[in-house]
Amino acid sequence: MRPVTKNTHCYEIIYMIYLAPIQGITDRIYRNLFPHYFKGVDLAIAPFISSAKRMKPGNNLLRDFYPGRNTGIPTIPQILSSSPDDFAVLANMLYDIGCGTVNWNLGCPFPMVRKKGRGAGMLCYPARVEAFMEKALPALKPALSIKLRLGLTCPDEVLELIPIFNRFPLTELIIHPRTGVQMYEGEVNLDVFERCLKLSQHRIVYNGDIDSFEKYDLLAKRFGSVKRWMLGRGLIGDPFLAEKIKFNTEKPCHEKIKIMRTFHDHLFEEYLKVLSGPAHITNKMKEIWTYMGSFLENREKILKKIRKTHHRDSYVDVVNKIFDELIPS
Ligand SMILES: Cc1cc2nc3c(=O)[nH]c(=O)nc-3n(C[C@H](O)[C@H](O)[C@H](O)COP(=O)(O)O)c2cc1C
Repeated sequence: MRPVTKNTHCYEIIYMIYLAPIQGITDRIYRNLFPHYFKGVDLAIAPFISSAKRMKPGNNLLRDFYPGRNTGIPTIPQILSSSPDDFAVLANMLYDIGCGTVNWNLGCPFPMVRKKGRGAGMLCYPARVEAFMEKALPALKPALSIKLRLGLTCPDEVLELIPIFNRFPLTELIIHPRTGVQMYEGEVNLDVFERCLKLSQHRIVYNGDIDSFEKYDLLAKRFGSVKRWMLGRGLIGDPFLAEKIKFNTEKPCHEKIKIMRTFHDHLFEEYLKVLSGPAHITNKMKEIWTYMGSFLENREKILKKIRKTHHRDSYVDVVNKIFDELIPS
């Protein structure tokens, strides 16, 4: 049954909240621990695996999706590829180990990727997208969803792609309404997103810049037909945000910090088991801190102290001190 929730403005039905793929952060360990501490997230798309690397069945990236290894947020793997053959091989391997759906990355904006015509680099070539789908889809065992941006340089590029997508069986389109060249900056283009909604025969998931209940609420009011919302940086920053959006409940700040500390310590412990070397673990945790704790008042000061650490032991000392100061006994 869909949860019916009451928020301050209206009664509404919330269907699903997705955790966005963030390379380097939302990996299997993060996704597995997350629901032990935070509520409200229904599904995750994993950071992309590139199909360019021909994979053997025992490959580590594939092993992440072996049965029993994703015990936290239910997760759909994502593939970055411009070759329908390579895509189908990898997607079918994932299917054979239990993944019923795979996601195609048509949004990665990094120059190295887009210059090779992959990710967002493919959005300005509708004929290539069509040829890819014509070849890949009949060969696919799993269902397919697509995560995309509006275009590479021009937000209208997507308007040529949607009629192509309409001709194929897809589970959904997850749209981040920026262009590739915008990277993660500048405004999201909600007018073009609205045109996509009208044009698409597939379910649409909205993704982009939701970092507060108020932002979500404005979008939900404008796009009444959207019932699935993907949150990335905003949710890593404030992992209580999904609970706030979905159930309209919020814990007091000191309680949030306590829970965040336990989550942090648990992540640290788990990463310690797989990352060798005192610098590796420190770098990993620093990457998470790029976003984590957005609700902390003195976050900039905290980050400054954390960025200065380069060794596991100094990292632990500094972070313990920070949390001790934040949570007076
Ligand atoms: C560091 C970083 C890594 C990302 N890695 C991926 C990825 O592997 N696959 C993908 O589809 N999107 C990736 N994204 C994009 C996010 O999934 C999401 O679309 C984007 O951050 C916008 O959503 P947000 O404003 O809620 O964060 C990445 C974004 C960032 C900042």
